[in-house]
Amino acid sequence: APGADGDGAFPLPYLFAYPDQYPQSGRFPANFTWGAGTAAYQVEGGWDADGKGASIWDTFTGTDGAPINPGMVDRGQTGAIACDSYHRAKDDVALLVRLGLSAYRFSISWPRLLPNGTLVMSGGAPNMPGVDYYNALIDELLRNRITPYVTLYHWDLPQALLHDPYAQRPSRDNWRGWLDDRLPGAFAQYAELCFSLFGDRVKHWITLNEPFTFAVLGHSGPHAPSLCNWEETLGGCSGGPRPAAGWDVYVAGHHALLAHALVAKVYREKYRAAQGGELGVALSSYWYEPASHMREDVAAAERALAFELGWFAQPLTHGSYPRQMRDKLGARLPAFSAEEAALLAGSTDFFALNLYSALLVRDKPPAPGYGAPGGAPVSQRADCDCETSASAAWPRSNATWLRSVPWALRKMLRHVHARYAPAAVYVTENGWADSAASFREGAHDEGRISFLANYTAELWRAANEDGVPVRGYFVWSLLDNFEWEHGFSLRYGVTFVDFHSARRTRYAKTSACWLRALATGNALVP
Ligand code: NOJ
Repeated sequence: APGADGDGAFPLPYLFAYPDQYPQSGRFPANFTWGAGTAAYQVEGGWDADGKGASIWDTFTGTDGAPINPGMVDRGQTGAIACDSYHRAKDDVALLVRLGLSAYRFSISWPRLLPNGTLVMSGGAPNMPGVDYYNALIDELLRNRITPYVTLYHWDLPQALLHDPYAQRPSRDNWRGWLDDRLPGAFAQYAELCFSLFGDRVKHWITLNEPFTFAVLGHSGPHAPSLCNWEETLGGCSGGPRPAAGWDVYVAGHHALLAHALVAKVYREKYRAAQGGELGVALSSYWYEPASHMREDVAAAERALAFELGWFAQPLTHGSYPRQMRDKLGARLPAFSAEEAALLAGSTDFFALNLYSALLVRDKPPAPGYGAPGGAPVSQRADCDCETSASAAWPRSNATWLRSVPWALRKMLRHVHARYAPAAVYVTENGWADSAASFREGAHDEGRISFLANYTAELWRAANEDGVPVRGYFVWSLLDNFEWEHGFSLRYGVTFVDFHSARRTRYAKTSACWLRALATGNALVP
């Protein structure tokens, strides 16, 4: 069957629309979901409030003591207070109401519910103030007819599940985070706790946010736990223990997939009949556009996509890794047992896509000595034998990796539809970064509005002209927030947050008004 093993049907180039050809009006399907997203570590704060345990991001940023890897986060900032959403959940919901949105994507902080990672290690019961916090948030959303889309893991792993060689904080039993083959079981236990506590009201679950990102960036320097097993020029990998082997990212990704598969099994066997909800995994990827029509570059673009989106999308659909990854990585890529493959195949109910931008790809055969000790470094781009660049014509944001390439969204949605044929697709993140120093400077965020307008026009085309079953779209983000290694220097919100004020005062940007028009009209904003 086409696409059965990740081969075949790569979308042909097509003539995409130029901005003056964008549909000037267009209704979205009835009941289309318009939402905004956040993540616990990025907005909640209250890092040790009411019995919450430390996460690897608390440790990494040095919230409780010295940063384990000084200089990794812009200006040494942390998410200790962030937007203070732990104390302002009602205000956040009020913002969603004012925006006219019908859905809110937020994440649950695992160590807020299980301070030491597992039930046994946390004393046999969840941390009740944490349970109360999420109950109150969910109830407030439902009172306002806003549907919760809940992410179970948005990167804030309980520190107790990682013996951190930098922090010298021994964890009981020497847990190894996502490199540990006990992690899928621990995650499934935590997920089941969430289903039993909140599943009567939460019907849309995103088990994992961007496994690619936490597997790769978490094991190459810039993100917690900042284990440096991959020689990537991402900064921060100097000093500290650094085994030369470049396969840990694939082990972490493998455990992430198995974790999702276990959770899906538990949900389907024990909760779905009673609760009637659905599960997905939010997958991130650039759209990879061949830099030329030469066969080698087209194949390189397919490989790049296989090494980012396909790495996770294909196991979740077919229970196998993409052929390109297997061919290149051999034994460095873990294998699924027949039982695991069967658990994974078809383990999502919807396809959740975090899509921001595109890259151009050229073929680049391996350098001599690739992967050998002292030889060419092993890294993502080296593994996929490709070289990537951005077109100078694509408008840049303040995030170096993020340029506006609206047609990337349509091409990606067409690709997802053709290759994986999901029953439903949600764009679970899409958004734009600026670096406004003050509200005065950031209030009229034209860059964000034109980004969102152009991307939602392409979304409309995918839904209406290409027949992609797109069911919803979530702007990243509801609020300016803690942008990981960039601290508060990059703002993604349609709401400005004054991080200098004690209350983290919120102000609507112009894009908030634009988003309201889009969501309430359920049509492109002319
Ligand atoms: C990906 C992540 O899921 C989110 O946490 C992050 O803030 C945005 N994209 C922007 O980089």
